[in-house]
Amino acid sequence: MYRLIKNCGPARRGEFETPHGTIQMPAFMNVATAGAIKGAVSALDLKNLKCQVQLCNTYHLHLRPGDETVRTLGGLHEFTRWDGPILTDSGGFQVFSLAKLRNITEDGVTFASHIDGRKIFMGPEESMKIQSNLASTIAMAFDECVQNPAPYEYARESCERTIRWLKRSKAALDRLNREPGAINPRQMLFGINQGSTYEDLRIDCMKRIRELDLDGYAIGGLAVGERSEEMYRIIDAVIPEMPQDKPRYLMGVGTPENILEAVKRGVDLFDCVMPTRNARHGHVFTWQGRRNLFNAKYELDESPLDSDCDCPVCRNFSRAYLHHLFKSGEMLAMRLCVMHNIYFYNSLFEKIRASLDNGTFERYYQDNLKVLNRRI
Ligand code: GUN
Ligand code: ZN
Repeated sequence: MYRLIKNCGPARRGEFETPHGTIQMPAFMNVATAGAIKGAVSALDLKNLKCQVQLCNTYHLHLRPGDETVRTLGGLHEFTRWDGPILTDSGGFQVFSLAKLRNITEDGVTFASHIDGRKIFMGPEESMKIQSNLASTIAMAFDECVQNPAPYEYARESCERTIRWLKRSKAALDRLNREPGAINPRQMLFGINQGSTYEDLRIDCMKRIRELDLDGYAIGGLAVGERSEEMYRIIDAVIPEMPQDKPRYLMGVGTPENILEAVKRGVDLFDCVMPTRNARHGHVFTWQGRRNLFNAKYELDESPLDSDCDCPVCRNFSRAYLHHLFKSGEMLAMRLCVMHNIYFYNSLFEKIRASLDNGTFERYYQDNLKVLNRRI
């Protein structure tokens, strides 16, 4: 159940009730692809990093350890020891970005595993079966994510097929939820809007999928090759067609700047590998801008990563220490920076929510848009 608390122009402050807890929105999902945040951060750490909800991947967990194994072990919550909400992506993106030798038919996609080359078939029914075994809080419909730019005719045909796959996803998950063995019989389903960079396709797609009365709606196929301005144009076109009483999720986005722009336009939910991936390369986000810890200027710098951050890392360690850890190839370098970046992203959302609550979002947006992107 999504409850709208307050509007600030098209921007929304709301909350989304799930069987694993209520998500305060706008919200960020930390990416735990294979059931783990890369950089040695576990569910035990996440409680101290303001995390609300995690994203895991159907594709990866199906390949390893196998969704039947996760099911036998009690589902993702029991397996990873994270008891809050978990959203699983359907595989519709990873199959297209990671797997080799794809063959798409009306039924689904045949592809070679990126791990051992094994041939695997995945369609809407397979994806829903896997996600049901994983027992996530929210399952994503099986879709095709088309790289931009794409020819109009291809985008149209692909989008039509994605809508047919969505109907099959819904029918399959309804059946699975009714099976006596379901670990999470209240598993929710989000549909995904596609249509590349074509406003007419996007709007037509959204009008048709909103009829299915799903638990939430995502905008997919963005941040996949197009410029940010194009992405904002598509969000502006789609948002007015999205239901008011359901969460709106922009998949795979993005930088703090992208997030502020999308919240301003009415998006409620995000996921991105950027905080964790960047941290592993010594790249941290701060309230003054971005830093790279490999820089020699940090060699004798005793200040914390960010003097305005009260994360466990900034409360204890110096830039000089983190610089040394990176130069020495210590695993701790990654772990500490991943923790800080996760805390930073979740704090950014906390600040966005507070500014929506007290009616100062526009001001917050203006003051931070450029600052957060600056390299310092
Ligand atoms: N993650 C980022 N973009 C997409 C998308 O278009 N579809 C899916 N399933 N996942 C995504
Ligand atoms: Zn910090």
